[in-house]
Amino acid sequence: MKKVVIEVCLGTSCHLLGAQDLMAYLERVPKDWKELIDVRGTTCLHHCGKGPNISVNGTIYTGMTPDKLQDVLSDLIEAAE
Ligand code: FES
Repeated sequence: MKKVVIEVCLGTSCHLLGAQDLMAYLERVPKDWKELIDVRGTTCLHHCGKGPNISVNGTIYTGMTPDKLQDVLSDLIEAAE
């Protein structure tokens, strides 16, 4: 399976809105999920007021929380199985 590319915006606005919570979540996902994802940082996804923002395989998600991120990843990984 091709890895799911997750870009977490680490720009100032997203940082202030909680991007670090998303990074912390991604560090503690189950080991079998870790092998399926490629986590990268990026400086701005150009939706600064709606952060924290991520891009998953090129699709931007705004206002992310760890729970929402888990739902997105779960759907993608289950669909690929
Ligand atoms: S700082 Fe995150 S979208 Fe601009």
